[in-house]
Amino acid sequence: MSLDLQALRDRVQALQQEIQESLQQVKTLDDLEALRIRYLGRKGEVTALLKSIGRLPQEARPAAGAEINRLKQWIQQEIQAARERLEREAQERIDLTLPGRPVEPGRLHPITRVFTEIIEIFKGLGFEVEEGPDVEWDYYNFEALNIPPHHPAREMQSTFFITDKMLLRTHTSPIQIRVMERKKPPLRFVAPGRVYRVDPFDPSHAPAFHQLEGLYVDRRVTFAELKGTLELFLREFFGPDTEIKFLPSYFPFTEPSAEVAIRWKGEWLEVLGCGMVNPNVFRAVGIDPEAWKGYAFGLGVERLAMVRYGIPDIRWFSENDLRFLRGYEP
Ligand code: DAH
Repeated sequence: MSLDLQALRDRVQALQQEIQESLQQVKTLDDLEALRIRYLGRKGEVTALLKSIGRLPQEARPAAGAEINRLKQWIQQEIQAARERLEREAQERIDLTLPGRPVEPGRLHPITRVFTEIIEIFKGLGFEVEEGPDVEWDYYNFEALNIPPHHPAREMQSTFFITDKMLLRTHTSPIQIRVMERKKPPLRFVAPGRVYRVDPFDPSHAPAFHQLEGLYVDRRVTFAELKGTLELFLREFFGPDTEIKFLPSYFPFTEPSAEVAIRWKGEWLEVLGCGMVNPNVFRAVGIDPEAWKGYAFGLGVERLAMVRYGIPDIRWFSENDLRFLRGYEP
């Protein structure tokens, strides 16, 4: 069968059209290779077309060859362009097989958890929860708590003063005053908070730590109730067989005052301070000390946590080391 040049040109045009459409379907480099083989391979359509030149009249052959070669070059260019596009896309595409970065659930800080645990015990005994500001007036931190101007607690080296009348509270006791100014007795609350002292940062000292204050004010409140309540709390927190000892002590805002020690691994450890509210404190907030009595206590939260969980260094609480934060879970 002989061909004429026009029929060949039509065939070239049809092939070009077909390839253009096929190229649009190509999604992968493998698809592209299949396409290349189909047209340019040894048994490919363009190759077959080249072979068919021999069936053309002699004078038509050069023009036909040029036509087919143009097609061939065009296909090669198109395939090269498609390959580059596919390779670029492969690089840009999100690799869904890449393992994800695990998102760990957060946890509460050990201090928060110990606070919560302590507060739950006191809530069970009918105590409410109060709070006060970290930045305090001298009046609330010292004066109203019956701490006279010459008291060592006021010395510049133990207190972060902001002005001579304003400071970072050195204890949570000022919350006693703030609540008693605001609410009428009877009162029964605990008050958690952070406190600040100009202390070294060493295994047993930190310039910022946490306390829990407690106050109970009613018509009749006895030292026996204070003892009973604190013993109950300490046995709840440290275990039912915990041995507890009250030692005479001094605090300006309580009279009499005591420190409480527990026996822990054979040693007596002081864990909190307490006492009967000093009448001068009641007078400072306009509560009649003849009509009302009260007890108060204050405990260091880090200290309690360190004893109970055997934490040797108070700095661990504020270093944000995940090994510590993960390891001490009640
Ligand atoms: N505020 C005392 C301190 O920081 C602790 C304290 C002792 C609080 C006796 C009290 C208390 O309420 O009655 O050392």
